[in-house]
Amino acid sequence: MEKIVFRNVSKSFNGYDAVMDLTFHVNEGETLVLIGTSGCGKTTSLKMINRLIEPSKGEILIDDRNISEYNLIDLRHNIGYVIQSVGLFPHMTIARNISIVPELKKWPKDRIASRVNELLSMVGLDPDIFRDRFPAELSGGQQQRIGVARSLAADPPVILMDEPFGALDPITREQLQNEFLSLVRKIKKTIVFVTHDIFEAVRIADRIALMDRGRIVQIGAPEEIIHNPTDRFVVEFLGSHHFQLCLLLIKLEEIMAETLHFKTAEQDIEAIPHLKTGQTILDALNCFKQNPGEHIAIKGDDGKLKGFITKKMISDKIVATIK
Ligand SMILES: Nc1ncnc2c1ncn2[C@@H]1O[C@H](COP(=O)(O)OP(=O)(O)OP(=O)(O)O)[C@@H](O)[C@H]1O
Ligand SMILES: [Mg+2]
Repeated sequence: MEKIVFRNVSKSFNGYDAVMDLTFHVNEGETLVLIGTSGCGKTTSLKMINRLIEPSKGEILIDDRNISEYNLIDLRHNIGYVIQSVGLFPHMTIARNISIVPELKKWPKDRIASRVNELLSMVGLDPDIFRDRFPAELSGGQQQRIGVARSLAADPPVILMDEPFGALDPITREQLQNEFLSLVRKIKKTIVFVTHDIFEAVRIADRIALMDRGRIVQIGAPEEIIHNPTDRFVVEFLGSHHFQLCLLLIKLEEIMAETLHFKTAEQDIEAIPHLKTGQTILDALNCFKQNPGEHIAIKGDDGKLKGFITKKMISDKIVATIK
């Protein structure tokens, strides 16, 4: 089902066309990533969904209804929003920052308090430690987690995220991306996510919309964008990362073997490193780099053992990808 629909949407600021004739949709429960170079119109497109910016032309629908027909306050309360610079209120505790929309919705105090605890745990921060701190007492990565928690507070069906992990080092960033993925599997939201990092896009997107100078150049699943770029700009944008991106598309569940050729005792399986089915060949290479040995155990999201991979299986797959 189409949750959000853009029909021929344009926005110009004093005669400058920031966004031109955008037509696309976001399916219910899907993560659509908007990606493109700085200034191509990503934030403008996002802000038109919660009416922080009004389109100059065209229309935007949510649940088949034009967003201009919704009560503005109801519309905003039903759309979570993580802004590019986090934007926590410095004079409010973490708990109060997260509670803003539930308070506006007049939830009872005890429901808000338990929701705050639940959300802090969900984004990997201990509620007893963080609830009563102020934003300045958190690291950048922790603040970004609070930004994500706040956007989820009143359980909105739609979430807009504008470079939520933008200002982070690569390690924290990847960790938050993985947490984001397991969170999204649990909460099933319709998400529009802005980034300019193609690796981030390929990791988290169901579909990617690649933008250039106010227009969508190509929209499709990560595999489509990487294997069948339809435009020179797409090829240029992927650039020298193309091969690495191909590897990022190969999930361990595709290449693992369900059993090993030799018998491995239960305790030995626990001793070898493990990854999850949804992780990629790049994660496996990193894992082998950090751990001695020839095997990695692959577990499902349920924690159960699903299979194994060996260094040889990975090198065979990489060689096959080059050919
Ligand atoms: N309020 C405004 N007034 C005038 N021009 C604006 C306004 N907001 C955005 N623009 C212009 O519209 C274009 C698109 O801006 P936008 O913020 O959507 O880009 P972006 O893709 O989010 O870029 P970035 O990756 O740097 O965040 C830019 O050229 C910007 O200068
Ligand atoms: Mg922006």
